[in-house]
Amino acid sequence: KRDVYILGIETSCDETAASVVKNGSEIISNVVASQIESQKRFGGVVPEIASRHHVEEITLVIEKALQDAELAPEELDAVAVTEGPGLVGALLVGINAAKAFAFANSLPIIGVHHIAGHIYANQLMQPMEFPLLALIVSGGHTEMVIMKDHGSFELIGETRDDAAGEAYDKVARVLGLPYPGGPHVDQLALASTSAVEFPIAWLEKDSYDFSFSGLKSSVINYKHNLEQRGETLDAEAVAAGFQKSVVEVLTVKAVKAAKEYNVKQVIAAGGVAANKGLRSSLEVAFAQEDIPFSVPPISLCTDNAAMIAAAGTQMFLSGVRSELSMNGRPGMQL
Ligand code: KG4
Ligand code: ZN
Repeated sequence: KRDVYILGIETSCDETAASVVKNGSEIISNVVASQIESQKRFGGVVPEIASRHHVEEITLVIEKALQDAELAPEELDAVAVTEGPGLVGALLVGINAAKAFAFANSLPIIGVHHIAGHIYANQLMQPMEFPLLALIVSGGHTEMVIMKDHGSFELIGETRDDAAGEAYDKVARVLGLPYPGGPHVDQLALASTSAVEFPIAWLEKDSYDFSFSGLKSSVINYKHNLEQRGETLDAEAVAAGFQKSVVEVLTVKAVKAAKEYNVKQVIAAGGVAANKGLRSSLEVAFAQEDIPFSVPPISLCTDNAAMIAAAGTQMFLSGVRSELSMNGRPGMQL
């Protein structure tokens, strides 16, 4: 059986990324140009600025990914690109580059769901075992998905308001930390010796949904109340309390779902899966339950194109192809 080489392209948010992956499991090259430094000045992602950066970077990033891989375009089997969800202007830059590259080199093109990409980042570490539970926690998503096979995604729970990463970024802002706030809150939380008590929204007894906006409001109110009393805020204790609430609800619901669906494996994915507190809480909880748990290294948790190539390889092998008329789908469903 001959090897399959897929070029992955990802531009759904603020990273311009391209990567070549072999057989869906081996990273041959992985290039990520981050706009974080530029978006920091605005305290978040400004869609117009994101698109402009992608336009400037995309050709160089793709060229670098091919160069690093020491592959000629004709040695590739297909181009996989994030089709959605994401910022439409940002998505279109990657999609148009993918179309042009695919057309010029007579390659098929495959549109990949961004979250399927995050999940398949795990395939770069080890083969998936089904049924599996995927906990996806990123800046735009908080979801639990059951996979009974490749390409099959059953959504069993999701956030009803803010995504976990969004809550992290907003709390970071309240604490005066730079964008993206998740890693800074994580660091403060781990350094703290005490934690402010914040509520957890458990929702209905059987629900696998999440809600983080109440928790975020509690942090904001806590700060206001302190300010009115003229007291100073212990940022570490606030970060620790906030993180404790987020980590606890994610861990408890993930364990409950893993047991109910009798899964063989649990994987975490998305930017917030880079969180040290969450990683260790999930590791400990699933070790206790004797359920295999894995999470990719931090660089493969946040947005990258290797994960898109990995998911695209699976689709390629099962015969999925997209039209060259493919469009960006900002609200694409998994
Ligand atoms: O997956 P990602 O790179 O982009 C989206 O698809 O959204 O996730 C970005 C999110 C941001 O909200 C960022 O603050 C959060 O992931 N994040 C973290 C950590 N590292 C990144 N949140 C908590 N702790 C971290 N260590
Ligand atoms: Zn993402």
